[in-house]
Amino acid sequence: MLKTRFQDLCTRTDQQLRRCLGRSTSHERLGEAMRYSVLNGGKRIRPLLVYAANEALGGQPQSVDAAACAVELAHAYSLVHDDLPAIDNDALRRGKPSTHVRYDEATAILVGDALQSLAFQVLAESQHPQRLLQIRILSSAIGAAGMVAGQMADIHASGTSLPAAALEDMHIKKTGALIRASVLMGSAGNQASSADLKALEQYARNLGLAFQVKDDLLDVTGETRRLGKQTGADQHLDKQTYVSLYGIAKAEAILTELHTKAIEQLHMIGPEVDLLSEIADLTVGRDH
Ligand code: IPE
Ligand code: IPE
Ligand code: MG
Ligand code: MG
Ligand code: MG
Repeated sequence: MLKTRFQDLCTRTDQQLRRCLGRSTSHERLGEAMRYSVLNGGKRIRPLLVYAANEALGGQPQSVDAAACAVELAHAYSLVHDDLPAIDNDALRRGKPSTHVRYDEATAILVGDALQSLAFQVLAESQHPQRLLQIRILSSAIGAAGMVAGQMADIHASGTSLPAAALEDMHIKKTGALIRASVLMGSAGNQASSADLKALEQYARNLGLAFQVKDDLLDVTGETRRLGKQTGADQHLDKQTYVSLYGIAKAEAILTELHTKAIEQLHMIGPEVDLLSEIADLTVGRDH
């Protein structure tokens, strides 16, 4: 039942993405490279979170289609740039050559630029009564105080040894910020008590950190074929991760603790939290 709901929401997200990408540019190669970078089998966790948070507060899916589309565009942009030679130099993404490998580096940079602005265009052109708030949430999450700061910290931490608090801060920014934004954007415009919103925010904060801890673990314990990206990439670049700092067993224990903390928050919200709960389970249980 939940599996079907996830599939339906993924299909719904892909329809939105296809639609907005279809009319995004008249430049054939750029459009093709943008579609290649987005319509390529991502898990769509962030759009799912938008729909799930909206549903938890009694909203209808159509009201957050634009937000769901926008967070995935922003995420896809971050992946294209993350894989660039100057950042992580990863040749494999979602089981296929990374955008800069399939096309070229300049195209990948421009694809990222274009996807980022398209994310905001989609929100600005939506009918959502709280679209300005959603734009504020997304822009602050992925900008210089959020995801980009986390990416900057990640690059500069390579080859050093980061204290625990700095590692947590880096993970919360580079990955947690967009995950938190997805939940907050899905919540916007719905009737919610301040206690509900606080619980959702705490859920999102714990989930966001858990998501990157699991990503760090999968880089060591996962299989390239299943993961769709090269394993061992973090160690190769001497990246600071939960595994490099704590080892596999402790990182797994931290992951379990974060999952528990996320789920605990859901008890405080109304009855419609199945999707949010399932996303938390998927985050820690996934093998890709
Ligand atoms: C990978 O994100 C990059 C991180 C921020 C950890 P996902 O694991 O959500 O990647 P896709 O979208 O499913 O490919
Ligand atoms: C990615 O972190 C964070 C962002 C893209 C913002 P990673 O560099 O660990 O993600 P993967 O492992 O390449 O997907
Ligand atoms: Mg990276
Ligand atoms: Mg990377
Ligand atoms: Mg990683």
